[in-house]
Amino acid sequence: MKKTNNFLFTLSFLIAGYLPLNAQEKNAITLQPENAKVTISKDIYGHFAEHLGRCVYEGIWVGENSSIPNTKGYRNDVVAALKDLSIPVLRWPGGCFADTYHWKDGIGPRDKRASIVNVNWGRTTEDNSFGTHEFLNLCEILGCDAYISGNVGSGTVQEMAEWAEYMTSDAESPMTKLRKQNGREKPWKVKYFGIGNEAWGCGGNMTPEHYSDMCKQYGTYINYAGRGVNKVASGASDFNYNWTDVVMKNAGSHIQGIGVHYYTLPGDWDKKGSSTEFTEKEWFTVMKKTSMMDSLVKTHLKVMDKYDKAKRVGLIVDEWGTWYDVEPGTNPGFLYQQNTMRDALVAAINLNIFNNHADRIKMTNIAQVINVLQSMILTDKEKMVLTPSYYVFRMYKVHQNATLIPVSVISRNYTLDKESIPAISVSASKDANGKIHVTLANLDPNAENPVTLDLGSIKAGNVTSEVLTSKAMNDYNDFGKAAKIIPAKFDKIKISGSTLQVIMPSKSVVSVEISTK
Ligand code: AHR
Repeated sequence: MKKTNNFLFTLSFLIAGYLPLNAQEKNAITLQPENAKVTISKDIYGHFAEHLGRCVYEGIWVGENSSIPNTKGYRNDVVAALKDLSIPVLRWPGGCFADTYHWKDGIGPRDKRASIVNVNWGRTTEDNSFGTHEFLNLCEILGCDAYISGNVGSGTVQEMAEWAEYMTSDAESPMTKLRKQNGREKPWKVKYFGIGNEAWGCGGNMTPEHYSDMCKQYGTYINYAGRGVNKVASGASDFNYNWTDVVMKNAGSHIQGIGVHYYTLPGDWDKKGSSTEFTEKEWFTVMKKTSMMDSLVKTHLKVMDKYDKAKRVGLIVDEWGTWYDVEPGTNPGFLYQQNTMRDALVAAINLNIFNNHADRIKMTNIAQVINVLQSMILTDKEKMVLTPSYYVFRMYKVHQNATLIPVSVISRNYTLDKESIPAISVSASKDANGKIHVTLANLDPNAENPVTLDLGSIKAGNVTSEVLTSKAMNDYNDFGKAAKIIPAKFDKIKISGSTLQVIMPSKSVVSVEISTK
């Protein structure tokens, strides 16, 4: 992760339509229902499950003989919680793991599958009991789409093409015959197919020029073998706009999406900072760095526009979220971290940014769904905890497939040590039943923030609201204890005509539902 220039940061907020002026006394948000034209792809609310630490094994899959309550090997508690979240799409099997994964090791009778060493994450041996069938059947159980990450780094073109054929073809062929022998008659649906992952790093250390050719070559044979898949090119890290430029120039016409990965760290890669023990300075840094997603996305989109004037290719933020030092005493290769109110704010800010760019962002995948990095769910053997981030995704799910209502924002600043960032983040949409949903975040951990929303031509009826907040910045939900951070009914909200007043508590996320007359 590169250091960011403060001047560019301030400039990016000005361009974003925010006015982070020191003189701003009020928070004023104006909804523009007359400009509501774009659908917020439900896939913006996507997730990621990698073979990493306890995400897949223990987090999702315990096997049929486990004492942890399960149905056909999937944990009952986790499946129920994920269903409640209406997860739209799940990315698997990696991450870095994807470019070491050979899919044929994970099919057929489980007791005959080859064990493998997970060379990226802790060098643990995996028995491959969770493979293609177990993943795609999970997607069907959850009612979500599948995003498969293919192996470009150490796999062959033939291997990837055969995987696409095995999963999606309904023709009479060697791969469909094998699938049927393994108990699956009909093809599954695979909506997205990633052509490698982090090809600039763990996925092969390639130059963008070299990767562009690989992307076209692998993609050509996915086209022949696969049915109905959208191809996603391995994208840039953070602010590497040159990667996007070269891949779009050389391979842009062959893909439906291009990725980008951006993680939020309080510190540097060699000393990231604790997930639970942090100062206000670290809180501020996380808020500031995560808000930079907006300028990062805008700049990648500008580069994409050079080669895709029709804006056909979607930007896919297929890894994002917080990354801290692992919890003391846990395996450093497992990336297990706690999740506090700070993470709830990170989730809310990013989802607002993604909604507001719904014209070009077609999918995102927070890393990762269970027990890894900024998780929705944490497990400890048979125990399960729903994190503050989980609740933000649940509060925001109303935006899935709704129509984006553009907003203009005048925000007060949140200032610390002479540095300032806008205190308020917001997005709004109209769902299929005509209800308006507004989601807001107050980044200031010390001060409440009164916000005035001008609803424009919207004729407001009944208004209901929920809040997610906590006493301390570093509160979290822990195993065996009552949840400290859980959505509650919110009443510091008043409607009069077309004006809505919301008193945002410090460090809070608020969702508002407005029925229309
Ligand atoms: O999400 C953890 C890792 O972060 C992924 O495997 C990799 O793609 C990224 O570097």
